[in-house]
Amino acid sequence: AASLKGRDFLMLLDYTPEEIRYLVDLAIDLKKKQKAGEVYQPLKGKTLGMIFEKSSTRTRVSFEVGIYQLGGQGLFLSGNDLQIGRGEPILDTAQVLSRYLDGIMIRTFAHRTVVELARGATVPVINGLTDLSHPCQALADYQTILEHKGRLEGLKLAYIGDGNNVVHSLMMGAAKLGVDISIATPEGYEPDPDLVKQSIDNAKETGARIHLCRDPKEAVANADVIYSDVWASMGQEAEQKERELAFANYQVNEELAKYAKKDYLFMHCLPAHRGEEVSEGVIDGANSIIFDQAENRLHAQKAIMAAIM
Ligand code: CP
Ligand code: NVA
Repeated sequence: AASLKGRDFLMLLDYTPEEIRYLVDLAIDLKKKQKAGEVYQPLKGKTLGMIFEKSSTRTRVSFEVGIYQLGGQGLFLSGNDLQIGRGEPILDTAQVLSRYLDGIMIRTFAHRTVVELARGATVPVINGLTDLSHPCQALADYQTILEHKGRLEGLKLAYIGDGNNVVHSLMMGAAKLGVDISIATPEGYEPDPDLVKQSIDNAKETGARIHLCRDPKEAVANADVIYSDVWASMGQEAEQKERELAFANYQVNEELAKYAKKDYLFMHCLPAHRGEEVSEGVIDGANSIIFDQAENRLHAQKAIMAAIM
C-alpha cells in the first residue's frame, strides 16, 4: 500500500486494523512467492541498517536474509561498536545514518531510544524489540495463527507468565485483529497499565476481549492458543532467581494445557527455557508451532520492509 511508504514500525497501536491485516496478508503472499521460487525484489539497491544493543538469533538472521531476498542488503551494526556506545547522541546518529541508509531496524533497551531514533531519522525505523514491545514478533505470530486456524477473529489466546514486551505486542495486535486475549501473571508482573488501557480502547472497534487475571487455568480455559515467554527477559538476568520463585505456578505444561481446546496451538517467541516457563512435553509436543512462528519472522518482516521502505 502506497499509504505505508515512509512510515515507521514502532508499535502495533500506531497502525489501523486494516493496515495490520494488510501486512499479515502481504506476509502470506510473500511467503508463497518465495516458496514458489519467484524472485521479487522491490528493494533493489536499498540498504537496511540493523542496530543491535541486545543479542539476537531470529531477528538478526531474518532481517538480513529478508532484505537480501527483496533485492537490498542489510548492514549489521553492533551497539558496542557504534559511537552511540560511547555516548554519541541518538538524534545525531539518526540523522547521520539517514544520509546513508534507506531504513533502520533497532533492538535496544529503553523504548524511548527507538522513539528518539525515529524522531531524528528521515528514513523508516523498525522496532526490532525494546523492553516495552516486540511488534515484529506479534505480526509474525498472528500470521502463523491465521495460517493454522484459517481465521483470527473470535479466537482466544492465553498468555501465561511475565507482563513483558512480547505480551504487550500480542495484546495490541489482539485488540487490532479481533482476537480475545487472556493474560495470567503473578502480582507485580502485570502488563503496562497504560498499554492495557489503550488496547482496551482499541478493542472496542473490533470487539476483542482483553482480560487480565492471576490464575493460569482461568486464562487457558477454552483457549485456541497458549503462549509463553521467558520469566527473565534480556536485561533482567540478575532477577532470574527471584523470578523463578514468583513464576513457579506459571509453567505451561500438560496439566495446564488440558484446560485449553483439544486442538490448541502452543506458541513461544523463543529462545525458550524448557522446564521453566514451559515443559518439554508441551514445547516439543504435537500442538507446538514454535518453528513456524520463527520462520514467519522472515516473511512478516519482508512485508514490513516492502511496505514502508
Ligand atoms: N524471538 C526473537 O526475537 O528472537 P531473537 O532474540 O533470537 O531475535
Ligand atoms: N521477552 C524476551 C523476548 C526475547 C525475544 C526478552 O525481551 O528477552
